[in-house]
Amino acid sequence: MNKFYITTPLYYVNSKPHIGHSYTEIACDTVSRFMRQAGRDVFFMTGTDEHGEKIEKAALEAGLKPGEEKKFVDSIVPHFKELWKRLDIGYDYFIRTTDACHIESVQAVLAQLNVAGKIYKKVYQGWFCAPCETFWSGAQSPGGICPDCKRPLEKLDETNYFLKISEYQAWLVDYIKSHPDFIKPDFRKNEVLGFLNEPLLDLCISRPKTRMSWGIEIPFDKDYVTYVWFDALLNYISGIGYPHDMKRFKKYWPAEFHVIGKDILRHHAVYWPIILHAIGVELPKTIFAHGWWVVKGEKMSKSKGNIVDPVDIINRYGVDPYRYFLLREVGFGLDGTFSEEAFIYRYNADLANDLGNLLSRTLTMAEKYFEGEIPETSNQKPVTRLGEELRSKGKTLGIELEKTIPQFDFAGALSKTWEVIDLANKYIEDSRPWVLAKENKTDELASIIDDLLQTLRMVSAAISPFMPDTAAKISSQLNGKLTKTTPLFPRI
Ligand code: MSP
Repeated sequence: MNKFYITTPLYYVNSKPHIGHSYTEIACDTVSRFMRQAGRDVFFMTGTDEHGEKIEKAALEAGLKPGEEKKFVDSIVPHFKELWKRLDIGYDYFIRTTDACHIESVQAVLAQLNVAGKIYKKVYQGWFCAPCETFWSGAQSPGGICPDCKRPLEKLDETNYFLKISEYQAWLVDYIKSHPDFIKPDFRKNEVLGFLNEPLLDLCISRPKTRMSWGIEIPFDKDYVTYVWFDALLNYISGIGYPHDMKRFKKYWPAEFHVIGKDILRHHAVYWPIILHAIGVELPKTIFAHGWWVVKGEKMSKSKGNIVDPVDIINRYGVDPYRYFLLREVGFGLDGTFSEEAFIYRYNADLANDLGNLLSRTLTMAEKYFEGEIPETSNQKPVTRLGEELRSKGKTLGIELEKTIPQFDFAGALSKTWEVIDLANKYIEDSRPWVLAKENKTDELASIIDDLLQTLRMVSAAISPFMPDTAAKISSQLNGKLTKTTPLFPRI
């Protein structure tokens, strides 16, 4: 199977994108680039989640009138698109939940479920968390506090439509247990199974327009709009043609990966599979949940005022260092602390010193000892044992990348790549080319420079999914006249 379909969550457009959003985006872009290089037919989809109470509220706060929400979302979406462009995100399709195609698709699925008898209407009395747009039973939310965000819940008493998800509980538990790759990392799978130990409540999939009208109208009852999560999850299939272009849909579905943050695991690993199963569609292969970026121990949020703005960081330090830092600093799946000190430390140590120096020392020597020509070698034995090691590590780097990147082990892939870079730097110290030059040992010198150039070519290919621009710069400096140019990463 050659196709590779990967998705990000759809970001809420209640405010501008922050580093948490860019994290998922950069991770998916990196895997997509790697898969494209490997010859896969990649379809990488991202987009925006534009309906619901959160957005309606943000529109009103921004001074718009009820009914003008579309104007508001149209003003926020460009912030996302511009940031993705600046961050070199090569997505194939940007879906908006206000797109006509998506709306039709959601309505078609609702109609299908209704005809199949999977939807019923009842009076709901219980608790509701408006910021999370989630219903909770009394047992799930002791003290009237949202178990997810810990904010006080509202008491609701209203008639709504419900999807019969409880009848699928046993099937889902069984499915998760028999498909070890369905939820990753494994500890997240256990969390989902823990949640499924308690009885599953049917999912409320509507909102009466009298309370909230910014949403997709329920096709069989014009007094209601669709619950925003039901609407948004369907993007993963509507965006590739379900049900209006089934040929295209069949080409890409099931998705290889839905990449999400840990806070939206339940929606993706419980509600989404059941919706799919209820309409007779196969499940995605893997849902991968990453951790959070926290600042001084707290999740970033607008209300806490601790948002790190990606634009500010990339304006000062560049796009590739930012992409590198996010994927190198913390294992994907775990939480990480963002601090500018840690960022600068990695920038100087890994990028300016290790990688930047290796390139500039190699180019300087090639210029000085071989007039900028790629030296001719008879492929002789490496000059020292470290050279031997460098060649063999270089040979296995590709295998290491294949083992790590498709598993979202970015830190692992980069640390293997930096082992090669470190070794190349050590090889320079160890083989002392400047002494060989004084002694006119041209063959040995040529062999060293050749090994270093080969290593840099390999490194540039290895980092290209992570830092596409840097990789292109390195490879253009290695082709043609070899001369020392301005440093890739000036020290901070
Ligand atoms: N709209 C829903 C997703 C619908 S998908 C069908 C949503 N949007 S969101 O904008 O709030 O979050 C989008 C993604 O950004 C989530 O995966 C979330 O985990 C991620 N992040 C938001 N803040 C984050 C951090 N501070 N750190 C890392 N990622 C976090 O949820």
